[in-house]
Amino acid sequence: MTQKIIILDFGSQTTQLIGRRVRELDTFCEIMPYNKFPKDDPSVIGVILSGSPYSVHDPEAFKVDLSQFVGRVPVLGICYGAQFISHTLGGKVEKADSREYGRANLETVETTNPLFKGFEQHSQVWMSHGDTITSIPEGFDVIGSTKDVVNAAFTNTKHLTPDTKGVWAVQFHPEVFHTLQGKQLLQNFVVDICGSKQEWSAASFVDSTVAELKAQLGNDRVILGLSGGVDSSVAAVLLNKAIGNRLTCIFVDHGMLRKNEFQQVMEDYKVLGLNVIGVDASAKFFSDLAGVTDPEQKRKIIGRDFVEVFNAEAKKITDAKWLAQGTIYPDRIESLNITGKVIKSHHNVGGLPKEMHLQLCEPLKWLFKDEVRRVGRQLGMPEHLITRHPFPGPGLAVRILGDITPEKVRILQDADDIYIRGLREWGLYDQVWQAGAILLSTVRSVGVMGDERTYEHPVALRAVTSTDAMTADWAHLPYEFMAKVSNEIINKVRGVNRVCYDISSKPPATIEWE
Ligand code: XMP
Repeated sequence: MTQKIIILDFGSQTTQLIGRRVRELDTFCEIMPYNKFPKDDPSVIGVILSGSPYSVHDPEAFKVDLSQFVGRVPVLGICYGAQFISHTLGGKVEKADSREYGRANLETVETTNPLFKGFEQHSQVWMSHGDTITSIPEGFDVIGSTKDVVNAAFTNTKHLTPDTKGVWAVQFHPEVFHTLQGKQLLQNFVVDICGSKQEWSAASFVDSTVAELKAQLGNDRVILGLSGGVDSSVAAVLLNKAIGNRLTCIFVDHGMLRKNEFQQVMEDYKVLGLNVIGVDASAKFFSDLAGVTDPEQKRKIIGRDFVEVFNAEAKKITDAKWLAQGTIYPDRIESLNITGKVIKSHHNVGGLPKEMHLQLCEPLKWLFKDEVRRVGRQLGMPEHLITRHPFPGPGLAVRILGDITPEKVRILQDADDIYIRGLREWGLYDQVWQAGAILLSTVRSVGVMGDERTYEHPVALRAVTSTDAMTADWAHLPYEFMAKVSNEIINKVRGVNRVCYDISSKPPATIEWE
């Protein structure tokens, strides 16, 4: 039985980060909505309560029945989690005179408590809260204080009966980078206090998943849609290891992939031994997109055509029983927003051919992106496939303003190719989350080349840093690099006479332009 930590999500932006930190400790964890604690699951070895945008005094604040797990398994409350523990068990939480946000230092810290094993005095922590815990519940002791926050960390461990598990609460955020010994704290909790055996690794994942897939799929045939991206490629290699050529992959070229990408990726897949059907459907997509300028309309047409083309191929595989997808964990986590509504739920591919009665197989559904990459490496996949940037399903269509024509796609492919090759040559590719060029084909500007006046389109370059694409910042690429790329694009790509760099963060902008 795989040991697991349950992280109850009260809507904090850093909940996923807690999950990643626990996984980095080679320990399996699940992020659940605050009110969905899995009762009677013997594999749960500990519970972490996340932060929240609410105050415990808000009428809409998320509440959980602590008796489901307190005393039974070790519990760690973080920020709102700590305030909720205090508020519910008889302590006091009040509005702070001013919001406490940013760096602070643990002026006193009880390093004899297992939570703070290895901590240095004055260790830097990161605060972000509007309420403050003015008194802690009876039976609890303070084990860490900052200059402004006396009750920065507290626990009931000194007053427990032998078979009762402890509760720890910290007002600061151990999961964020700026809490310098945050990893140590989480390791102390997960490994020492909860007793994780740290058995969750890429190698163990591959072994157990391949065994499970063999058992689940038997002699059935499976279809998988490949996109050239990391997730679907890793899912395919994993399935291939489990069931060999009973896996049929379908890779649709809609004509708006990067320059030469279809051919290169097909080549990669062949080397990996995958059984892939490559479908060049670009003519259909270009014809259906002709003259369409509205971004949503373009997406809809591409989505609809994709399903049509994919389904037509899938139906030829008459004995298929399963449809496999490269869905990963962040796609499925029901993140909560402040209204309590689910803002991101599990997205399936739209419009599967119902008459095929396919069952869904999602071998990566528990993994974060960096874990998918680790699994890919474990499976011996080439590095350039594993570290590939995310690329949107509709491809360059969302990076061409206005209508789409093969000529515009050609211009953008050439500009994008110079940019991406440049990023690789300058060692910048792996430093950014995602990069690409955008053709502003609804805009024209005047330029001069040699003795000739030009009246052509600008290209915008975008590169962002991010951990999950939910938020992103523009990457501060070196000027020398941008100068060189701009020069090369304008000199070599006919149809472009100006290059701009997009310096918008997300939010309020998005990563893609359309
Ligand atoms: P935005 O533009 O919303 O993008 O900031 C966030 C991330 O999602 C990718 N993206 C898409 N991926 N189909 C996809 O498969 C789409 O329609 C789509 N739109 C955006 C985008 O590249 C970024 O990584």
